[in-house]
Amino acid sequence: MPAAGRGERLGGGTPKALRALGGKPMLVRSIEALRRSESVTQIVVAAPPTLVEVVAQLLGRDVRVIAGGAERVDSVRRALRAIDDDISVVLVHDAARPLTPPSLVDAVAAAVLAGHPAVIPVLGLTDTVKEVGPDGRVIRTPPRDRLRAVQTPQGFRRDVLAAAYALQDIPATDDAGLVEALGVPVTTIPGAQEAFKVTQPPDLVLAEALLARCAP
Ligand code: C5P
Repeated sequence: MPAAGRGERLGGGTPKALRALGGKPMLVRSIEALRRSESVTQIVVAAPPTLVEVVAQLLGRDVRVIAGGAERVDSVRRALRAIDDDISVVLVHDAARPLTPPSLVDAVAAAVLAGHPAVIPVLGLTDTVKEVGPDGRVIRTPPRDRLRAVQTPQGFRRDVLAAAYALQDIPATDDAGLVEALGVPVTTIPGAQEAFKVTQPPDLVLAEALLARCAP
C-alpha cells in the first residue's frame, strides 16, 4: 500500500494518509478493508519517511511499514522489496481509497489466481474526456464508451509486477501502465463507486457523508 503521498491537492498540512475520516486516519480505514478481505495474507505499507515509526505504531504488528519514496512508483518499488518470498500474487492499493469494499479486494485477487497476470478494477466515465495540447486546444475526443476510470487494488502475478518495476523511466500513472509496457495483457473487472480516491477537498466531504450514512 503506497501511503507516502504529501496530499498537497487535499490541503490541510497533514500527509493525506493520516488525515482523519470519520474519526480515524484514512490509512487505518484502507488497511481495514484489506484485513477484512479473505485473500490478503501480508500487508506492507510505504509511509512518509519521517513517519515510519508513527505509522507502525498506528497500524499494529501485522503490518510491515517501510519508508516510501519521492514518487508513487518509488514507494511501490520499495514496498515490493519488503514482501515475503513465498508470496506469489501482489495487490497494490492506494491508501487514499479508504472506502474500498473488501469484496473488491477479493475479486481482484481471485481474477489473478484464476490465471490473469494483471487485473485492474474499472468504471465507465460520466464526463466526456478530451485530449488537449499544451496550448489549450483540443486535439481529439476519444469515444467515451471505450474509456474507463481505473481504481485500485490492482492485482498482479508477482513475477510480472517485479519485471514491470525493473523497467526504468517509463511514464505511468498506475502500476498496470508499467505492466502494459512489458506487453503483458491487462484484464479489467468491474470496479466499485466507493473505491474512489480521496484527492480533492470535496472527496473528503463525500467520504464523510458515506461513512455517516453507513454508521449504526
Ligand atoms: O497522489 P495520488 O493521490 O495519486 O497518490 C496515490 C497513492 O500513492 C496515495 O495513497 C499516496 O499516499 C501514494 N503515494 C506514495 N508515495 C508518493 C506519492 C504518492 O506512496 N511519493
